[in-house]
Amino acid sequence: MAAQAASLAEQIPEPARETPLGLIFPAGFTWGAATSAYQIEGATTEDGRGDSVWDAFCREPGRVRNDDKGEPAADHYHRYPSDLDLMRELGLHSYRFSIAWPRVMPDGSGPVNQRGLDFYRRLVDGLCERGITPMATLFHWDLPQALQDQGGWESRDTAYRFADYAAAVFGALADDIPTWLTINEPKTVVQNGYLMGIHAPGFIDPEAAYAVAHHLALAHGLAVNEFRAATGTGRIGPAFNLHPTYPADNSDAARAAAHLHDGYENRLYLDPVFRGEYPEDVLADLGSGSRLAKAIQPGDLDVISSPVDLLAVQYYCPIYVDADREPVNRWPTSQAFWQQIYPQGLFDILTRVTRDYGPVPISITENGLPCYDELRDDGTIEDHARIAFLRDHFASAHQAIEAGVQLESYHVWSLLDNFEWQQGYAERWGLVYVDYVTQQRILKRSAQWYRDVIARNGI
Ligand code: FCB
Repeated sequence: MAAQAASLAEQIPEPARETPLGLIFPAGFTWGAATSAYQIEGATTEDGRGDSVWDAFCREPGRVRNDDKGEPAADHYHRYPSDLDLMRELGLHSYRFSIAWPRVMPDGSGPVNQRGLDFYRRLVDGLCERGITPMATLFHWDLPQALQDQGGWESRDTAYRFADYAAAVFGALADDIPTWLTINEPKTVVQNGYLMGIHAPGFIDPEAAYAVAHHLALAHGLAVNEFRAATGTGRIGPAFNLHPTYPADNSDAARAAAHLHDGYENRLYLDPVFRGEYPEDVLADLGSGSRLAKAIQPGDLDVISSPVDLLAVQYYCPIYVDADREPVNRWPTSQAFWQQIYPQGLFDILTRVTRDYGPVPISITENGLPCYDELRDDGTIEDHARIAFLRDHFASAHQAIEAGVQLESYHVWSLLDNFEWQQGYAERWGLVYVDYVTQQRILKRSAQWYRDVIARNGI
């Protein structure tokens, strides 16, 4: 397996990989790491937590590799104090995590489960005690199953239930969390959950998918408004996975296909939030009778475009399409079948959003690589491919800052190895290795390298 995974990066001799490039980031640049609730917490039936769509999806045989499920995951619900110590050991400035809706409102609506909120209170207090700034995502895909049973994101009502949940969370935690993200990667819910059916709820229903896109956008806007009503401090914004989209060749047809594809990958999510409109070409391509067109009610786009304070960008790879809008692979891939390793794409997408949507403050809230990490007999994990990947992407981010992008922070995906959705535990994305049998944590070589990057604020 390991040999099969050897990427170009792995062939670079070790000293070249780890020699500093002499790039120093601006003073005050924030370095962090990211996780999400369902992927690390475990304790799925504890302290009154309700079922989520991912619990239900994992129970369906064959949906997730090896029929894995988010239990015990990295058992973070119980081990969070030592995980917080690990974060301090790495010198993290910021920790991005998500709050599980089914812990806070087990049925998706109705009474708040105080024990669920208390967990996040303990986590936030523990971060603050260690001098680490919390950054919270309200929704990282773990929709309460009770709401799915009533139509999930296909139902407009779910957006209003999300606003109620958000208000409850803000009431409890807003004062101590300076930065909030509303919805993690709405596009992944649309594409993986409703177009390909490989994520919960596992449907293949293109019409429904775009109604879902609208209701996720509406939910975002409603939550922003709840935030403004709840607190005068703090910042809030969306978290989008953006894919720079390029034509696979120089033909006019490929260029046109790439432009439309960019609409589906990027503008469909960015335009309503930052411009108060859906992209015309995507609306036209879907057709006037589409469920997206039908889902939009008067006033919705005003809500969706309520001003935000930042844009959270998650970058993993570019997309190349040919004249038929078929994807073409250009760059080395990774263990993740969908990934192509192209650091320059990060520069391209950061400068592009700054150019097209104004000088909005940007945080990178996810970027990373799965590696075939192996715990050696001497207790080390030599994940040099991850170091090379991160170094090259940090360099691309640095180049974007020099070009005028207001990039404030960088969160590596992920702090810990975790439950990687339909891949279960087969893909390891962490800076820190998790032995799932003993739940022991071991710093990978990349974690040690990242600690040095943070300490010198550069690569
Ligand atoms: C992103 C998800 C995150 C993780 C990484 C690898 O799309 O937001 O939870 O699965 O991919």
